Amino acid sequence: MHWSNLFIPTLRENPAEAEVVSHQLLLRAGYIRQLSAGIYSYLFLAQRSLLKITQIVREEMDAIGAQEMLLPALHPAELWQESGRWNLMGDNMFRLKDRFGRDMCLGMTHEEVMTSIARGELRSYKQLPQIWYQIQNKFRDEPRPKSGLLRVRQFIMKDSYSFDLDAAGLDASYQKHHNAYRRIFDRCGLDYLVVEAHSGAMGGSQSHEFMVASDAGEDFVALCRKCGYSANLEKAVSRPSAPQTADPAGDLAPEEFHTPGRKTIADVAAFTELPETSQIKSLVMVADGAPVLAVLRGDHQLSETKFAGAMGASDIRPAHPEEMRRWLGADAGSLGPVGVKKLRIVADCALQGRHNMIAGANRDDYHLRNVTSGEDFAAEFHDLRQAAAGDACMTCGELLELRKTIEIGHIFKLGYKYSESMGLRVLNTDGAEVPVIMGSYGIGIERILSAAVEQRHDADGMALPVSIAPFVVVVTPVNSAEPTQRRAAEEIYQTCLELGLDALLDDRDERPGVKFKDADLVGIPFRITVGKKLAQGMVELVERRGKKSTDVPVAEAAAAVKSRASDHSTT
Ligand SMILES: Nc1ncnc2c1ncn2[C@@H]1O[C@H](COP(=O)(O)OP(=O)(O)O)[C@@H](O)[C@H]1O
Ligand SMILES: [Mg+2]
Ligand SMILES: [Zn+2]
Repeated sequence: MHWSNLFIPTLRENPAEAEVVSHQLLLRAGYIRQLSAGIYSYLFLAQRSLLKITQIVREEMDAIGAQEMLLPALHPAELWQESGRWNLMGDNMFRLKDRFGRDMCLGMTHEEVMTSIARGELRSYKQLPQIWYQIQNKFRDEPRPKSGLLRVRQFIMKDSYSFDLDAAGLDASYQKHHNAYRRIFDRCGLDYLVVEAHSGAMGGSQSHEFMVASDAGEDFVALCRKCGYSANLEKAVSRPSAPQTADPAGDLAPEEFHTPGRKTIADVAAFTELPETSQIKSLVMVADGAPVLAVLRGDHQLSETKFAGAMGASDIRPAHPEEMRRWLGADAGSLGPVGVKKLRIVADCALQGRHNMIAGANRDDYHLRNVTSGEDFAAEFHDLRQAAAGDACMTCGELLELRKTIEIGHIFKLGYKYSESMGLRVLNTDGAEVPVIMGSYGIGIERILSAAVEQRHDADGMALPVSIAPFVVVVTPVNSAEPTQRRAAEEIYQTCLELGLDALLDDRDERPGVKFKDADLVGIPFRITVGKKLAQGMVELVERRGKKSTDVPVAEAAAAVKSRASDHSTT
């Protein structure tokens, strides 16, 4: 293709609205334009890159025997009501009505539709296993769409679903996906981690996330350099750091003291001159409609995922201020577990064995000292906290590292959740009807592109891998108006095409500096510059990543790109 004919609207300045690098560069390089919050148009370059990503995903899914389908994005409410997720998805679901007033929604994911197809057709164990997938738009009314394509309200997902007769079958389907995902992300040139994850609103048991370490990410991962343990922070287990000050000795009784205006853990720490680790943090929660008091060490954060898991609840939320007052007789800031009868109390394990700590007194502006978990209040101990900086690995004791990451893929064992709620059963070898065991597996196509940009860029722009860059090579005559340069460039370009390289000819009537800047910005992995050295039969071959430049004979330029590009695509 000839650059002079193309629509590649590059920008010189960083758009003010873009905070993360991939957002800035995708806008600046003319890949995307925003239509509305979290809704983007993918222009020519983005589309080329996304199609390459999609093709890699498709090849690797086909290689594990997965069958591609395309399901509707528009769903009737009934289907989601059957699985119980019509309510559960809340405001994240885009909802609409048809002309008859019937409730519909835009698909956030496709477990329901896939299960409805399977239950209508699968009758016997002989038809199992099955793996079905699609590459389709998903719609999620994200509360904070931001960071360019990283968190959007309409995005492309590869989602697949496995149907097996038994747990061993599911293990095999899960492992196939695990392997396919590794190959996909390897081929896309990403550096990634595989971490244990919780399975969220999907239900089920085992789950892994594929994560790219990046400050642009919104997920935290805890990882151990020594033994390799790694998990999403929502689910990571850890050994808490030691309290900063030893607890007062002795079997002391709780004692009220006045803390006027001291509402936060930090306020109380400053006031008492005792560290946050000496306090008990009390959080009033509502789990499936029932009030629960969750208590943790002052410096720890509640993991809502662990809390929901410990409660066996599917719907949890913090209590409203009126509820706190009604149930405990005080406002947030003075709440505590001592004397609480009406609420179930759950305590984080880090409080086990601690004594004489500080907690709210359930009286405004008062706290208690000498509070001991399990003595001054009855508590069930659970692992409820998020792993924090300074925590150690449960397995080997090494300090855990916390990293910000971008989730690019997620695999779940769904178990029987959908087959049971929606009635998907087959006859087993004994002729008995049994529910089918399922798995669900997702990859965010745009996230792969964004994560690649986050990982591979420099001050001049993107440095995408050969496998997903919109073009592999750009041939740039320094002076397009100069006939010999122009002709040589045209010939090299043709040879590139003949060798099967995705090539672009920058025939624009622009200063060389502008052409080089644009090529660097949009991230084309190789550039062949045709300039003055043509007189000696040479052109310059520049690798975008690292900007390494070598002179090569005109006749060998295309072949040199071809061989380097194939080296690159296997890394
Ligand atoms: N709002 C979004 N914007 C872009 N990609 C998304 C978004 N939500 C999810 N994805 C992609 O789809 C994959 C599968 O989604 P899923 O695990 O269901 O999402 P989540 O973990 O956000 O609930 C994610 O790993 C991610 O790559
Ligand atoms: Mg996920
Ligand atoms: Zn370890």
